[in-house]
Amino acid sequence: ELHQREYLSNGEMVKWDGEVSEVYSPVCLPGAKGLQRKLMGSYPLATEKEAMEALTAAEKAYDNGRGEWPTMSIEGRIKCMQNFVYKMIEQRELVINLIMWEIGKSHADSTKEFDRTVEYINLTIDALKELDRRSSRFEIAEGVIAQTRRAPLGVVLCMGPFNYPLNETYTTLIPAIIMGNTILFKPPKHGTLVHYPLLKAFKESFPAGVVNTVYGRGATVTPGLMATGRINVLAFIGSSKVANDLKKRHPKINRLRAVLSLDAKNAAIVTKNADLKLAVSEIMLGALSYNGQRCTALKIVHVHKDVAEPFLQLLSEAVGKLKLGMPWVSGVNITPVAEPGKPAYLKECLDDAIAHGAQVINENGGTSAESFVFPAIVYPITRDMKLYLEEQFGPVIPVIPFESIEEPIQYQIDSPHGMQLSIFSNDGKEIAALIDPFVNLVSRVNINSQSQRGPDVFPFTGRKDSAEGTLSVSDALRSFSLRSLVAAKMN
Ligand code: G3H
Repeated sequence: ELHQREYLSNGEMVKWDGEVSEVYSPVCLPGAKGLQRKLMGSYPLATEKEAMEALTAAEKAYDNGRGEWPTMSIEGRIKCMQNFVYKMIEQRELVINLIMWEIGKSHADSTKEFDRTVEYINLTIDALKELDRRSSRFEIAEGVIAQTRRAPLGVVLCMGPFNYPLNETYTTLIPAIIMGNTILFKPPKHGTLVHYPLLKAFKESFPAGVVNTVYGRGATVTPGLMATGRINVLAFIGSSKVANDLKKRHPKINRLRAVLSLDAKNAAIVTKNADLKLAVSEIMLGALSYNGQRCTALKIVHVHKDVAEPFLQLLSEAVGKLKLGMPWVSGVNITPVAEPGKPAYLKECLDDAIAHGAQVINENGGTSAESFVFPAIVYPITRDMKLYLEEQFGPVIPVIPFESIEEPIQYQIDSPHGMQLSIFSNDGKEIAALIDPFVNLVSRVNINSQSQRGPDVFPFTGRKDSAEGTLSVSDALRSFSLRSLVAAKMN
């Protein structure tokens, strides 16, 4: 068990002896009351007072752009970041195990998450060198010579999601830091302890006040921070509802820069010309990796009615072979779902679909025990069902038949989301004809492949309610800075 009794603020690990929040793993083990979620530890349930102190520390370190960090050379900032990476790697095994236990992600995927994050930081450093080379240059126009440079924005509030508690949080935190901003960082509720071993590395690698943590109930501490109007950038990965609520709290909402990655209902389209085997293997990965708990997961499948039967049969067979097990067991595909209320919510979705005329078509689909839910394929989905309207964020594949391609196009037009889409077809002309309508409705169209964020050098964003601003190794550097210039008249 790991009981965190300190947090990072103003360059100090501050001792905490107030209220704490207990952390339970989604993994259930035998206990006094039978199988129960394992207690993993606890963390400080800090209050608005500590959050305000952290804000003051971040502002002091920024010092209206005159602080040590925002004025440090790019080389200096890169050195600090490299130092952080060395220290981070020392904590590798512990952090991987914390990811696995705290959110139930398989050991293999938790390891990938850690290593991908280290790679992300190294790529960010390379991208910054390149950006600096290209943007710190002299430009001459109409008798004026100007030097342009990427300048920081101020105090950034960073909040990440539970499903990639380390990686996704760092996709905003790292570029925000390295561009010279100062940070308030609130770890996700599920995935808080994951960050604890790395706080000392932040403390030792960056000047005091550059990174400050904010603990406590999100509903208590973050609205107050936004309401001060002293947050310059909101970097949030999570639900659209929470993001909209936080933005509205800011008294100068028009001056707030928001970098957001939010809800999504990514669709796959299987045309009658698709290679069904390929479609099945990609859709299964896209829909069920990490139990479907990914913003980029495929969350609805449109299949042409002429190939619906063989497609569903192949998909059921493939899903039937998936291995369900504890996250530390090698080769498992389905692990406990992270959020305590998720099995009940998914059951509600399945009951609702059945009540409206659909069926769970695969053996054992939707059966659950403790925090395990076996993947369900649900068919045929209609417009009145929760599985059509809501982002299930779990191991359920809703399938909807179509006759004309206009139907999935109309689905995307009507959708409040616009993150990704996958098209499966072996007909080049058909694919070409679909790219234009869809590329203007979502932010990434995948051809004969699942939806995903990576490779991390690609821009990651979304349309409508799915995102604001752009993340990725290099785009994020722009998102957390301003291209400003020093201009002089030439005589
Ligand atoms: O939850 C959203 C993540 O950005 C998904 O990332 O596509 O690499 O799994 P991924």
